[in-house]
Amino acid sequence: SYPSRVQIIDVGPRDGLQNEKQPVPAAVKIELVQRLQTAGLTEIEVTSYVSPKWVPQMADNHAVMQGMARQAGVRYSVLTPNLKGYEAAVLDQPDEIVVFGAASEAFSQRNINCSIAESIERFAPVVAAAKAAGIAVRGAMSCTVGCPYEGDIAPERVAYLAGLMKGIGVERVDVADTIGVGTPRKVQAAIEATLQHFGINQVSGHFHDTYGQALSNTLASLELGVWNFQSSVAGLGGCPYAKGATGNVATEDVVYLLHGLGIDTGIDLDALVDAGQYISEQLGRPSGSRVARALLAK
Ligand code: HMG
Ligand code: MG
Repeated sequence: SYPSRVQIIDVGPRDGLQNEKQPVPAAVKIELVQRLQTAGLTEIEVTSYVSPKWVPQMADNHAVMQGMARQAGVRYSVLTPNLKGYEAAVLDQPDEIVVFGAASEAFSQRNINCSIAESIERFAPVVAAAKAAGIAVRGAMSCTVGCPYEGDIAPERVAYLAGLMKGIGVERVDVADTIGVGTPRKVQAAIEATLQHFGINQVSGHFHDTYGQALSNTLASLELGVWNFQSSVAGLGGCPYAKGATGNVATEDVVYLLHGLGIDTGIDLDALVDAGQYISEQLGRPSGSRVARALLAK
């Protein structure tokens, strides 16, 4: 049987918008965060503290974090690849920081300019500092089923990375299908590899929908008992270092699936569709959510 409740992190403001070519004003990002929390999202990945030369769209991290009106009970997370990023982030009081590694060496190099082993060395002091400051720590694991440069990724490599993350004190991890190539059994193998090092409550699914498999992969994860997922409102996004990869699975579509299964999310689908409609209008293109398009056409 499936879990009775699912916790969703909307990563739209960060994963969703990081790849936008046109600058999205901080005020729009702030409004998006506001609408997401109004819709009942209790975890929002707001921004990242990365090099503005690498990811210009996230250069307004301070403005967004300082400008949003925090709501009690909502956890705001941010990406921090190294101590420099952490030191900048901590000024904005995130509830959780995210170190982000990859199961693929080539992707690690392209995305964060270092090997997997070096990335862990950089993450270790970040994790230690966050924990000392009482900030929660999540670890994103990219390319857990496939890599744009290396192709298929074996579950052993996911287990290896998960073990390294556990070793430096990361509290929970995301099993990410960065380029959306996964199919249910492959995703389950990546999750099972992660479960060698983390409990089921510490593992989340992060699926991009490039090949249209993300909802199937969500269902396959639920079968294993996974109850934490990441998705982007309106299906926003794509990673700048994963060419051709589309956005995360749309939060609206995941919520529709879950509610249809009788699984509680705490999210108001209509309000979520409004949030998706807002950002889609700001970006000047139709929503990537099938559910949102269907509901709006009614
Ligand atoms: P680097 O060039 O190796 O870093 O980049 P460095 O330490 O040699 O420093 C070079 C310059 O960057 C210096 O500035 C540093 O100060 C600056 P300069 O002296 O040349 O003016 N710098 C920074 N500036 C701001 N914030 C920082 C920072 N660190 C150094 N934190 C680095 C290494 C990691 C910084 C770089 O590769 C980078 O920023 N990469 C961005 C990666 C990224 O954001 N990718 C997208 C997010 S990951 C993702 O989307 C996947 C995920 O969704 C899961 C999935 O789907 O798979 C999470
Ligand atoms: Mg992602």
